[in-house]
Amino acid sequence: MSISPINGTRAQIRTVILISGSGTNLQAIINEVRSGELEINLCAVISDRPGIQGLERAEQAGIPTRVVDYQKFEQRADADTALGRELESTAPDLVILAGFMRILPAEIVTRYRGHMLNIHPSLLPKYRGLHTYRRAIEAGDSHHGSTVHFVTAELDAGPAIVQYRVPINANETEASLAARVQQGEYLIYPRAICWFAEGRLRLYDGDVWLDNHRQTQPAILNEL
Ligand code: GRF
Repeated sequence: MSISPINGTRAQIRTVILISGSGTNLQAIINEVRSGELEINLCAVISDRPGIQGLERAEQAGIPTRVVDYQKFEQRADADTALGRELESTAPDLVILAGFMRILPAEIVTRYRGHMLNIHPSLLPKYRGLHTYRRAIEAGDSHHGSTVHFVTAELDAGPAIVQYRVPINANETEASLAARVQQGEYLIYPRAICWFAEGRLRLYDGDVWLDNHRQTQPAILNEL
């Protein structure tokens, strides 16, 4: 599927970003859009809680924000329904999970299949879930990193698109490792979004396709 051109230029895809926290990945994406490197229409940032730094970043960038405050709902399913409605109302071509700390219900994942990306701080399929830095250090791994992947029903298990890979140094701490891995996230996430926006990246038949080639392995960017 390619994005149809409007007035000779590529139409900018409507992109919504979901956050729960500090929003440094959101900021990296905003910076790339501002610099002209990433041509997308950042039409909304949605948070699952009020008062977080990521919302401030969006507001400063002039991006409309919405909050679906999960704590205000007695039933989790009602919060999920509210989130689904907010998403639907923004009519996104692409949904970006950037530190969104909720497991999405199957209906939302299915609705945006092939149009929803996540970034997870591990070299998937290793270390799905939480505390990935600690788990990699404790296991004595030689490398750790982060993965951009399409979102599918199984948590942190969708097809991987691109990974940033760093060596784990002697005396590495969770904090030092996280800091280095996150610098790489700010490179690989905008890159994957750019591929999608340019119509080069697709989920097809359960696999990642980049430039009309089925990817058997994610692209790898190594720490310099
Ligand atoms: C990122 O490190 C990402 O790997 C994980 O959550 C973190 C979000 O950080 N999914 P931020 O909110 O973008 O600063």
